[in-house]
Amino acid sequence: MVDGAAQRTVADIMSSPVVSATRDEMLAEVAARMSKTGVGSVVITEDDRPVGIFTERDLVKVAASGVDPKTEAVSDWMTERPDTIPLDFEVTEAFKSLAERKYRHIPVVDEQGKLAGIVSMRDLMKIAQIRPVEGPAGEVPKGLEGVVVAETSIGDVRGMEGFFHYRQYDAVELAEKCSLEEVWYLVHEKQLPTRQQLSDFSKKVAGLRDITPKTKEALPLIAAASGTSHLLDGLRTAYSLMAAELGYKAWLDTSIDELREQAIRTCAVFPTILVNLYRLGKGMEYIEPRSDLSVAANYLYMLSGSEPDPEAARAIEQYMILTVDHGFNASTFTARVVTSTGADLGSAVVAAICALSGPLHGGAPSRALDMLDAIGKPENAEKWLRDAVSSGKRLMGFGHRVYKTDDPRSVTLRAIAEKLGGSNVEFAKAVEKKAVEILQELKPGRKLYTNVEFYAGVVMDRVGVPREMFTPTFAASRVIGWTAHVIEQAMDNRLIRPAAHYMGPEPPEPVPALDER
Ligand SMILES: CC(C)(COP(=O)(O)OP(=O)(O)OC[C@H]1O[C@@H](n2cnc3c(N)ncnc32)[C@H](O)[C@@H]1OP(=O)(O)O)[C@@H](O)C(=O)NCCC(=O)NCCS
Repeated sequence: MVDGAAQRTVADIMSSPVVSATRDEMLAEVAARMSKTGVGSVVITEDDRPVGIFTERDLVKVAASGVDPKTEAVSDWMTERPDTIPLDFEVTEAFKSLAERKYRHIPVVDEQGKLAGIVSMRDLMKIAQIRPVEGPAGEVPKGLEGVVVAETSIGDVRGMEGFFHYRQYDAVELAEKCSLEEVWYLVHEKQLPTRQQLSDFSKKVAGLRDITPKTKEALPLIAAASGTSHLLDGLRTAYSLMAAELGYKAWLDTSIDELREQAIRTCAVFPTILVNLYRLGKGMEYIEPRSDLSVAANYLYMLSGSEPDPEAARAIEQYMILTVDHGFNASTFTARVVTSTGADLGSAVVAAICALSGPLHGGAPSRALDMLDAIGKPENAEKWLRDAVSSGKRLMGFGHRVYKTDDPRSVTLRAIAEKLGGSNVEFAKAVEKKAVEILQELKPGRKLYTNVEFYAGVVMDRVGVPREMFTPTFAASRVIGWTAHVIEQAMDNRLIRPAAHYMGPEPPEPVPALDER
């Protein structure tokens, strides 16, 4: 820290006058004021004294809750009785105070306790030269919820509306009207294919389903090590090997055309790797993919060894279409972070597989079905679900970071499940109804509904996809989205390198000798 910083007081650097509001003002007015004045927080005052603070972080919470900002008073959402600092506080002390209390903004008061100004972490960092000027930019909610980190033309999710799209098309409509190959083409080539383009593309991708020789040779070993209950572990190993075998180089050292070819090949081979890891793990024979079948039909063919019923193939195809892409989910973001370093496509895809493997992301469909099994029959649902939520457990297949209403994928998959029939569908619907009621009662205001995973399990089970293959099937379609994002990131790249807020003991402390620790 520079000496000058220590001698300055907050009075020298604070912003004044402060953007303020009164308790009874509506959120919409306050938000408009924040936006107009470009500030990250508003101080709520009474008799010129600060009685609350409302920040960008609170705004994100308001947006996620779905309340009408025109009818909600700011007093219901602000932090009451904010900490304050006096005018004569030294800048270094103010910095410490903000860091310790994890604040981004702190009001400054005069001797009478009246609001005199406000200082932000950012102001302090700039003045004290604690960090470069382009240090952390404003409020960053935990989990980066609602934070925009990139521009994309691949697709988006509108959580409050329950709508998501690929390019300019409604993803649910695409699932109703198109094949997976058409949607794959759309996501990678930015437009829907013509009949000829679709035929050429389908032939091309069907011809790229084979695993490379050395990886194929290693597959039994990988399958023996990963077992069928951890197929994504097997996938990341096998695919990583194949990317090495194919000599995928850092994309910075290759052309975008080459990157596109690698992307297509990666998507084409994923189902072959996954199904064969499963088969070998179960002691079955390796099966060669068939190039005369669609992606979805070939997938079910490889699993069972016989040509699937068209209705089953279409159901799995629709599931796959619905899970191709979904905004900046954790695995997609991971793929983009790795790509931003200039690394090869194989590395970005392996990293994405790792992110997907977590139960909070892709690992839930089999858990949702396990939950149905554990409940057993509709009469048990009430008690089972109530006990689970009351004891702090999460109901698998419920809740979503972005959707605060019905997940459109869940709605579509429920309809697909109804069409396919089977004993589990009515039971699943009864459990869903009960779970939503209980979540509303025990977690009021959180807006928890089924997510994609709940009916995905029911659909996949019905068409004969074994439980161990649920998350792998998700990976087999999501890889299309990941690789599209890799290409998009590469075409307009800047290293993704954010900053963290250090919260540990104040450095620098002298390093103690070994026997003094
Ligand atoms: C998907 C998920 C990770 C989103 O998490 P998130 O956006 O970080 O949501 P939060 O963890 O902030 O949860 C908000 C609140 O809702 C509750 N909640 C969220 N999902 C819940 C669930 N499935 N069951 C019970 N409560 C849930 C949380 O306990 C929290 O309550 P609190 O405010 O009392 O602490 C989360 O909903 C979840 O764990 N779901 C179950 C796993 C799942 O289905 N994964 C597949 C995702 S497609």
